[in-house]
Amino acid sequence: MGYLKTICEDAMSIGVNIDLSDCYYGETTGPCSFLKRPTNYYFFLAGLVRIQRLSQILEIGTNCGGSIMAISKGVDEDGIAKSRIVTVDITRKNEDGFSKYPHIKRIQGDSLSNEVVEKAVKSFDGEADLIYIDSLHEYEHTRNNINIYAGKLNPRYLVLDDIRQCDDMRRLWSELKEEFEDNAFDASDVSIRKGAGLGVIGWK
Ligand SMILES: C[S@@+](CC[C@H](N)C(=O)[O-])C[C@H]1O[C@@H](n2cnc3c(N)ncnc32)[C@H](O)[C@@H]1O
Repeated sequence: MGYLKTICEDAMSIGVNIDLSDCYYGETTGPCSFLKRPTNYYFFLAGLVRIQRLSQILEIGTNCGGSIMAISKGVDEDGIAKSRIVTVDITRKNEDGFSKYPHIKRIQGDSLSNEVVEKAVKSFDGEADLIYIDSLHEYEHTRNNINIYAGKLNPRYLVLDDIRQCDDMRRLWSELKEEFEDNAFDASDVSIRKGAGLGVIGWK
């Protein structure tokens, strides 16, 4: 567990100093229907991108774009020009917010459809640095997203949101933990996401 724990702790401590004031969560399905602020794990994601110098990034599950904008903020100024930052969702929200992030490529559609898979995978030169999956929190759906996208893009890191949220996600995470052993780290505490959970896998 050692190396990933250290990376995750460093990611959070660097991430909290990145200005994410315009990266708000937006519409939620929770008790508060609109969140006009970044959530804790945005700082973690931005910090991970910054300290690991990640620039080839795919997100599944955009919602209003807060997380992918935070990820983009983690890419340093030199890295933006060569970065590829891609996000997929069945919906298309927050045109106004995205207008400030013209380098983020949005793909609208079902992430498991052949058409979307092809578009998303073709956006990269064969490999990705980070795949962040935060879509429908069902076992089959998430497993399929992992198998398809990590299988095709062989990322350095796979980050999986909501690993503690429901039985399906807990089951999936325990299988991944068994499979990846020390290359899978439950970063829920580090990223201050103790309830819903957040997992990091050193994929390669
Ligand atoms: C929890 S939200 C994403 C939140 C966002 N990553 C953030 O942290 O700000 C999940 C998103 O997954 C999207 N989604 C659900 N099923 C999908 C599918 N089959 N393909 C693509 N996106 C999907 C939903 O439309 C929703 O916007």
